[in-house]
Amino acid sequence: MSDQITVIGSLNRDTVIRVPRIPAPGETVLGGDVATYRGGKGANQALAAARLGRAVSLIGRVGADGDGTSYLRALVAEGVDVEGVSADIDAPTGQAYIFLADDAENAIAVVPGANAKVSAEHVAAAGDLLEQSAVTLAQLEVPLDAVKAAAQLSKGTFVLNPAPAQRLGHELLSKVDVIVPNRSELATLAGAAEVEDIAAVVAQARGLRGPRAVVVTLGAAGAVLVTSDDELHVTPPEVEAVDTTGAGDAFCGALADALARGVELDDAVRWAVAAGAAAVTKLGAQTALPTEEQVRSLTGG
Ligand code: RIB
Repeated sequence: MSDQITVIGSLNRDTVIRVPRIPAPGETVLGGDVATYRGGKGANQALAAARLGRAVSLIGRVGADGDGTSYLRALVAEGVDVEGVSADIDAPTGQAYIFLADDAENAIAVVPGANAKVSAEHVAAAGDLLEQSAVTLAQLEVPLDAVKAAAQLSKGTFVLNPAPAQRLGHELLSKVDVIVPNRSELATLAGAAEVEDIAAVVAQARGLRGPRAVVVTLGAAGAVLVTSDDELHVTPPEVEAVDTTGAGDAFCGALADALARGVELDDAVRWAVAAGAAAVTKLGAQTALPTEEQVRSLTGG
């Protein structure tokens, strides 16, 4: 099997609004600069792996509009194969509205647009790619039927980043090799309240039936890898956080990159933690995705 990666997921136009803090329900805050970037968890994760040197194909959908065309051109320029991204004449390219606070935290609302039109048939049309890929990576910004089709057709390692969170049935979870939730997504999967303490996170992760491994991202605390008989907490290198948007995508793309190269899961998680840390040091989701050299410099290797 090659070290090829296929990503099934979203492409969005991100509008980022600087705010002193994320507004509470009912609160109005005065914003600062507004900027637009290319985003969407699918494209971010595809680009993250491509920037680390992998051959990556993306399956998704954009609108038949200028946004979609220029987006695909930019991805191609960065080496991502977008043959599997089609244009929808009835829906616009997806959008995301992001509040970015002074403490680097964010809150995001996504308007799916064409992402909502990715179907199981689109995924099946890329069946050969999925059969040949070492890693297939998906998120939940496209319909569940498309994700299920990808899990079904994938012959390599199937990695799922269950974001945005939703409850998932055993039929899909049993086909997932590695699931990568954050704390709140893990709580949704478990049907329980979010837990803070690492020992409680490990217990919640271990309660999930189906995936071979659970990798819980912990923000500034790094990540914890949980298997049925083992656990490993990886803390991140110290960095100055400017924007946490897309850090989880950098993590997932780097994890897929390492797994596609045949790296063991514990070292793959160490690599992904370093990539996530690198990604918070710059503004924007895709603009902040690190190169192999930048990640290596944070791992001390
Ligand atoms: O994970 C960050 C991404 O979430 C943003 O780029 C935004 O588009 C949303 O999909």
